[in-house]
Amino acid sequence: MKAQGDPNLICYMDGEYMRLGDANVGILTHALHYGTGVFEGIRAYWDAPGRELYLVRPFEHYARWKKNAGLLRINIPSEAGELSEITAELMRRNHFETDVYVRPIAFKSAERVGVSPDDVDAHAIVALPFGEYLHADNGVHAGVSSWRRIDDNMIPARGKICGAYVNSALASEEARRCGFDEAIFLNESGHVAEGATCNIFMVRNNKLITPPVTENILEGITRDSIMELAHNELGLQVVERPIDRSELYICDELFFSGTAVGLAPIVRVDHHDVLNAKIGPITAELQRQYVDATHGRMRQYRHWVMPVYASSPVGA
Ligand SMILES: Cc1ncc(COP(=O)(O)O)c(C=O)c1O
Repeated sequence: MKAQGDPNLICYMDGEYMRLGDANVGILTHALHYGTGVFEGIRAYWDAPGRELYLVRPFEHYARWKKNAGLLRINIPSEAGELSEITAELMRRNHFETDVYVRPIAFKSAERVGVSPDDVDAHAIVALPFGEYLHADNGVHAGVSSWRRIDDNMIPARGKICGAYVNSALASEEARRCGFDEAIFLNESGHVAEGATCNIFMVRNNKLITPPVTENILEGITRDSIMELAHNELGLQVVERPIDRSELYICDELFFSGTAVGLAPIVRVDHHDVLNAKIGPITAELQRQYVDATHGRMRQYRHWVMPVYASSPVGA
């Protein structure tokens, strides 16, 4: 199996499949200096018994990518359906039989100095073998960051804009140095926004609560999946409302959601135990359902996943 940075992995750049080792950009590339790129993160899960690789909600990810690229006026010529097919083909060309992370990136590619962008755009899709992002079997310990979430009128958090991830990198680094597994951002109004790379949910009095999309969060696709599962499968009331910091310390259950982390239970926050530092029953059930749905095991959510090999046998 090829490892993450293997130059012989096949990626897709500006309309062509090529070796990762040949997919390079110049040192003066605009996005490298000014953060003018928009990226995505998509998972594909390998279902060993069924020998199938399932891309998770690729259409929604590509639709979001195209819209977000529009915030920076970056043009991605292909449609979301076409990009999903290209990604499935990328999986097949790499003969992946393992969990995979897909990283599409669109960026301002002119090689010159000067912050004002022009209309020279590029895009690429890289796929890497990828296991666990956050070890969360026994839950994680999160800490409220001293860094605030960027505001929509600074750099839109919903945009998944490369430069905005300096905000996440600062919070993530601080959290780890302080001994936490992940950071929780408050926004400028002091409400809970999200994790450095994930959304956040809290259970209080049998209601599933998460900040609304106007609280400077990424409009997570996993967030959307979790809300649907909670409502449809668990019959829970799902509420989008601002969350105070102190609610983190008194809530019944708490968890992160995201493409990379999946659903990660939070059992301690700022050294306060959540539910005696045990993973709560609603969190555990949602986690189980999310894993099943994204591995193609729930018929009612088969439309979330795109089988990679069904239409084209391995090696074809
Ligand atoms: C800041 C941030 N919030 C939330 C998420 C979760 O979004 P999604 O579920 O679409 O991966 C991500 C990951 O992409 C993220 O980077």
